[in-house]
Amino acid sequence: MRIILLGAPGAGKGTQAQFLTKKYNIPQISTGDMLRAAIKAGTEMGKMAKAAMDAGQLVTDDIIIGLVKDRIAQDDCKNGYLLDGFPRTLPQADAVTNAGIEIDAVIEIDVPDEEIVKRMSGRRAHLASGRTYHIVYNPPKVEGKDDETGEDLVQRDDDKEEVVQDRLKVYHEQTEPLIDYYKAQAAKNPNIKYIRVDGTADIADVEKAIVSELGD
Ligand code: AP5
Repeated sequence: MRIILLGAPGAGKGTQAQFLTKKYNIPQISTGDMLRAAIKAGTEMGKMAKAAMDAGQLVTDDIIIGLVKDRIAQDDCKNGYLLDGFPRTLPQADAVTNAGIEIDAVIEIDVPDEEIVKRMSGRRAHLASGRTYHIVYNPPKVEGKDDETGEDLVQRDDDKEEVVQDRLKVYHEQTEPLIDYYKAQAAKNPNIKYIRVDGTADIADVEKAIVSELGD
């Protein structure tokens, strides 16, 4: 199963990825998590990515495309993968198509901007794993601690309201066009399923809606 998750920042891609990767036994490839790990490790790529991420802007296509191609080539991706946060520009989507990387499903999680801004202020993240929680909608078992490791949860630097507004603007300008791009691909290719779900429903209902379309 090779899946692309599409959606605005905070639409719930990472949240649904946690369920889908377990259900279909595929790795999550989150470009955001990979970039945060590079920043933490202090690599050259991390240094380049940090300024763009802190400003709510995108990291350059060249860096991201190289990162994902290397990751997809690894052994654990042989039976599929879930792309979370990639592609998010037309050149990135073209790179996927031109590399002959086949996709089985594109899942669009639709959430209006007003709801996104509300959600981000309550998001808490376990940066090492990429697991995310929400203080009201998806609280951890112990306040401020990751369920699996017991380590501290933090608020991401780019979840401040002014940065979220910039991220939404970038989403509408550069990523939203991918909705039509993949709808057109699905219309031409019966092997690609385009699935759109209402991301404002409860987390468990969003999961059910996706699984009912994807099947077992
Ligand atoms: P990235 O980490 O990918 O961030 P994002 O796409 O902006 O997405 P988020 O992780 O913020 O949100 P999400 O959709 O995963 O939502 P979540 O499940 O956490 O990217 C960060 C940055 O890296 C980018 O800005 C860019 O600079 C760079 N970057 C990454 N990929 C790139 C690429 N391909 N090209 C260039 N640059 C790139 O949910 C959000 C909150 O809502 C949580 O608190 C959650 O608990 C809650 N929630 C989820 N679902 C629901 C629900 N149904 N009801 C109520 N609450 C919910």
